Amino acid sequence: MQKNPNSSGDFSRRDFLRTSSVAVGGALLGNISAERGAHAAGDDTVKVALIGCGGRGTGAAGQALSTEGSVRLVAMADIFEDHLTSKLAVLQKNAKEKVDVPKDRQFIGFDAYKEAIALADVVILTTPPGIRPIHFEEAVRQGKNIFMEKPVAVDGPGIRRVLAAAEEAKKKSLKIGVGLQRHHQLPYIETIKRLHDGAIGDITSMRCYWNGQTPWVHTREDLERQAGRPLTDMEYQFRNWYYFVWLCGDHIVEQHIHNLDVINWVKNGFPVKARGMGGCEVRKGKDYGEIFDHHAVEFEYADGSICFSECRHQPGCWNSVSEHVVGTKGSCHVGGDTGGHTIRGENAWRFPRGTPSRDPYQQEHDDLFAAIRKNEAFNEVERGAKSTLTAILGRMATYSGKEISFEQALNSQVDHLPKIFAWDAPAPVQPNSEGYYSTPVPGDSEWLKKIV
Ligand SMILES: NC(=O)c1ccc[n+]([C@@H]2O[C@H](COP(=O)([O-])OP(=O)(O)OC[C@H]3O[C@@H](n4cnc5c(N)ncnc54)[C@H](O)[C@@H]3O)[C@@H](O)[C@H]2O)c1
Repeated sequence: MQKNPNSSGDFSRRDFLRTSSVAVGGALLGNISAERGAHAAGDDTVKVALIGCGGRGTGAAGQALSTEGSVRLVAMADIFEDHLTSKLAVLQKNAKEKVDVPKDRQFIGFDAYKEAIALADVVILTTPPGIRPIHFEEAVRQGKNIFMEKPVAVDGPGIRRVLAAAEEAKKKSLKIGVGLQRHHQLPYIETIKRLHDGAIGDITSMRCYWNGQTPWVHTREDLERQAGRPLTDMEYQFRNWYYFVWLCGDHIVEQHIHNLDVINWVKNGFPVKARGMGGCEVRKGKDYGEIFDHHAVEFEYADGSICFSECRHQPGCWNSVSEHVVGTKGSCHVGGDTGGHTIRGENAWRFPRGTPSRDPYQQEHDDLFAAIRKNEAFNEVERGAKSTLTAILGRMATYSGKEISFEQALNSQVDHLPKIFAWDAPAPVQPNSEGYYSTPVPGDSEWLKKIV
């Protein structure tokens, strides 16, 4: 089974000690204090708030604390107190001297993000992606620098909110990183630079895959046993968020975005349309919500070239997390799996094995924080939003069974978010009387209204 890149990003004490040994005590601090009034006079400490205290948030906070100079985690926010306290303990264990989050800076609830954002210079947004547009808008409104995880939304309305806020962020010169860490990974950078320089000529066809296993599931039964009470649908869906489109976007959006984003990077553009098929064949059960377990999509680019993409969560099948392209003068295994970062043809090349390459999860934070301290432009939002939209487009194509254009996906009026966030408010999707959720039926006109 391939290593699941989405499980990376955990932050250990060993990583912290390794990365903090290169810290230089704020020597690089630019003029952000004067510019934004973010620091006390003479204090070069960058204050960080973590919104969404799960696995990736803990990793990202650790990586932020391991960047050069003085950095402190000063606030945390989550909707679940148990998540916040357990992850605070992990961060304190790994980086005690850089974690300063007393009780009065631990915020719980649906509005908790606002208070935590207010206390920081840099905010880390690592909730499930459905919530990202709301938190991103607020962080921009408050004029904060931001690291936000991919995907940046789960539907067209969410992408439009993110793109609009990104325009505001530009006016405020905010620095914003998006967690598509392959852009900070040396073997990818070197390989794609060569492709852009014409190493394989014009790129005519592409393939990419995220075929693997189901990442995790939290069953209602287990959750209710642990809580000692029944859960409302809203709480159940937040705790088992992977299986609900309004929170996760489906795994084509949540995971496969990485591979689609690499193809977009190689192509220096985004697809114009997509068609595909998918369904839920193997992963059955009440706790697997409403998402598919496989998608196969053809993305068409403006020059007529096609990217064939597959993503699958089915045990016992062929697995791959990788990207490949073919051009008029050769071919390239761009990355992923064994043998990646290799060009074949008249300009044959391979990224030298054994070349030191920094952990991309750390590098993306190093690059963001360096830009903040030097007050240099850094804004990855538009690319992150359009790669997220590429994956949403793929989902719209497989759910509907129709050919869908990029513009249709962007301008879709199907907003998956609930109108009210409260534990007793109705969740956007409801189970049937036996507790099962329905999965989309391609070609069905009633479903189409919920998809496109
Ligand atoms: N770049 C990568 O390789 C990579 C790897 C892993 C995860 N991720 C991304 O990171 C994000 C989080 O994933 P994770 O694995 O850490 O999930 P997780 O479930 O471990 O953590 C999410 C946290 O957000 C909290 N949360 C949910 N709604 C909230 C709200 N409205 N306000 C505040 N907190 C809220 C949850 O309670 C939970 O603690 C996802 O977008 C995922 O795709 C990226």
